[in-house]
Amino acid sequence: MADTVLREDEGRVAVLTIHRPDKLNALSQQVRDDMLGHLAAIETDDSIGAVVITGAGEKSFVAGADISEFDGRSPMDQRHAMRSPRIFDVMAEFPKPVIAMINGFCLGGGCEMAMSCDLRVASEKARFGQPEINLGLIPGGGGTQRLPRLVGTGQAMRLILTGDMIGAAEAKEIGLADRVFAHDELRAKTLELAAKIASKSPITLKVAKQAVRASEQLPLADGISYERDLFCLCFSTEDMAEGVKAFLGKRPAEWKGR
Ligand code: COA
Repeated sequence: MADTVLREDEGRVAVLTIHRPDKLNALSQQVRDDMLGHLAAIETDDSIGAVVITGAGEKSFVAGADISEFDGRSPMDQRHAMRSPRIFDVMAEFPKPVIAMINGFCLGGGCEMAMSCDLRVASEKARFGQPEINLGLIPGGGGTQRLPRLVGTGQAMRLILTGDMIGAAEAKEIGLADRVFAHDELRAKTLELAAKIASKSPITLKVAKQAVRASEQLPLADGISYERDLFCLCFSTEDMAEGVKAFLGKRPAEWKGR
């Protein structure tokens, strides 16, 4: 595996750092392949309960797809580059929670990657945008679909049609960033949040994420019905039996992930 994505484990949290700081961590094919490789390894690693994605350096989370790879490309070449499995869908469907730790520019494919995560925690210095319009392009990593679901059609239209960047405070106001912290506190605060999530039952986290993701696809009545089925399915897990016994016994639960 090349070195464009670095993995460090902090307790039960795996931190994946996209490492192309001289290119503002632009998403090359190599970055996408390396990210998929790391996620495949983490998926089956029981020692990891949650994943944090960030960018190397002080300036950028991810400044978008690597524009140099677009130059002279045919539509068929581009279609091949966008073949499944796509990193955005893999993150959205990943069976463990994935948190974007947004330390700077969060543009284009970077913003789409952040939107594929379950939570977006941003530095006050972060800048968000979908600037593809300035390249004669539209967002191609799910931005036209995930952005309106997060911030509403009007705000999504504004960002996609103007290509303008917005700061972290405005991103939080419209629902694109979930938490915003001072730049030098970002890592500690994000890891604190990730560690709290990773301390829960892995099997219950998986089911909870699946239920919330379903809300993006299903009509309300079907979603409520699906939630009821998943809720009842939890009664088959050892962790649910343990959680209830621990509460009644006034002691902390010990999760087994079964
Ligand atoms: N793809 C490829 N290279 C990129 C890149 C991208 N998306 N974003 C930045 N880079 C490269 C620059 O070409 C430059 O490389 P160089 O030093 O070899 O010339 C380096 O990263 C630093 O970027 P630079 O533009 O000099 O930094 P800046 O602080 O002046 O500007 C941005 C920062 C983010 C405003 C600017 O880099 C930018 O607009 N990037 C493209 C954003 C974009 O359109 N993303 C969507 C792509 S579909």
